[in-house]
Amino acid sequence: MNASLPLHPRSHFPPDFVWGVATSAFQIEGAATWQGKGESIWDRFCRQPGAIADGSHGDVACDHLNRLDSDLDLIERLGVDAYRFSISWPRVQPDGRGAFNPQGMAFYERLVDGLLQRGIRPYLTLNHWDLPQSLQDSGGWAHRDTCYRFVQYARHMAQALGDRVAAITTHNEPWVMAVLGHESGVFAPGVRNRGTAMQVAHHLLVSHGLALQELRADGCKSRLGIVLNLSPIVPATASEADAAAARLEDGRSVRWYLDPLLRGEYPEDVWHHLGTDAPCVEHGDMELIATPMDFLGVNYYTRSVVSANGSWNAKEHGGPLTDMGWEIVPQGLTQLLRRLQRDWSLPPLYVMENGAAFRDSLQDGRVHDGDRVEYLSSHIDAVGRAIAQGVPVAGYMVWSLLDNFEWASGYAKRFGLVHVDYDSLARTPKDSFHWYRGFLDGQKAQRKLHVGAMA
Ligand code: FCB
Repeated sequence: MNASLPLHPRSHFPPDFVWGVATSAFQIEGAATWQGKGESIWDRFCRQPGAIADGSHGDVACDHLNRLDSDLDLIERLGVDAYRFSISWPRVQPDGRGAFNPQGMAFYERLVDGLLQRGIRPYLTLNHWDLPQSLQDSGGWAHRDTCYRFVQYARHMAQALGDRVAAITTHNEPWVMAVLGHESGVFAPGVRNRGTAMQVAHHLLVSHGLALQELRADGCKSRLGIVLNLSPIVPATASEADAAAARLEDGRSVRWYLDPLLRGEYPEDVWHHLGTDAPCVEHGDMELIATPMDFLGVNYYTRSVVSANGSWNAKEHGGPLTDMGWEIVPQGLTQLLRRLQRDWSLPPLYVMENGAAFRDSLQDGRVHDGDRVEYLSSHIDAVGRAIAQGVPVAGYMVWSLLDNFEWASGYAKRFGLVHVDYDSLARTPKDSFHWYRGFLDGQKAQRKLHVGAMA
């Protein structure tokens, strides 16, 4: 693989641009029943036969819980400004209501303090999908009461950590939780009902707005926002039918979230299309959802090509693919960011996840993942191009620090800058880790020059 890199338009990254790396609790922590942790919907889902491609689960994962200090050292070695992680709600509040678990809380205190001691800014996500199972047992996100439980959990975490974390994200990728979790059922909790999925999406958005209002009323100093998975949605052909299918898909996956968050309304065409599956919206919900945010997080991996008959298949189109079968389309990220700016009035944007799975092999203590280096460098370049065209992007985070539990794909898909041997749990930084570190060194040198020039 040719790892020679395109030249970065380095000057396009402002000196205060935040460079980071991301993980989530369920995918790395393990210790599924350790020190009073409650069961999450993903613990339960993994036990369903056939739910996870390799039959695996998160019981041990990367054993991050027991390797916190050495993992923090790895993050420090990487040279990032920020680390994005999530809290496991059932680890800190096992039943999702009532008492908080002091041992769970202590773990995240150590995590946040360990980052600060190393000069790394903590970016906290409250909900990266692992809802306490006991809340699911009483209806989960389809039930409005879960919004109020979430706000109570959010306030508790903000009171404990809000003085030290730079940013708090309410939810990671509501579309995934709603649609993959409740419509196609391929993710936890494995429900298959479109009406339920749309009610779940609405409750996620309502709880986001409520949490923002309550946290601000409590005097929380962290910046507050949400993270969405977004792609340019492209029709497969020039036909009317494909254009209409793409428009609807854009409505369901992009506008359904951005219109309420940034304009306080659901897109009419999608509402009409949903018929009786449209959610039940209470008086005042739309104002709550549109509570102003301090940032909007964007996760980008690939574009989405839509055909009316569902026949489009990336594999048949000859372009480069990752090991997930996702097309590699860096210019799609520039296109997406520019479109966001054109169509909505935006708070600062952060690319909160971007990265790729490849079939890495560990040989003589090295992983030569030139394909990942190329993926990352071309996508960073794409962000630089968007900034150069005036899009307010303030940060970029690589998914992911470690190889980890890739949800329904199990452990076979490796996204890490650091290779994990799942037998020994040994960590080996890949070539991409060293490349990103070198890139960040270059950014820091630029910053020094900038500060020098300003002095
Ligand atoms: C995103 C998830 C993240 C990871 C990447 C590959 O949708 O937020 O946890 O699984 O995909």
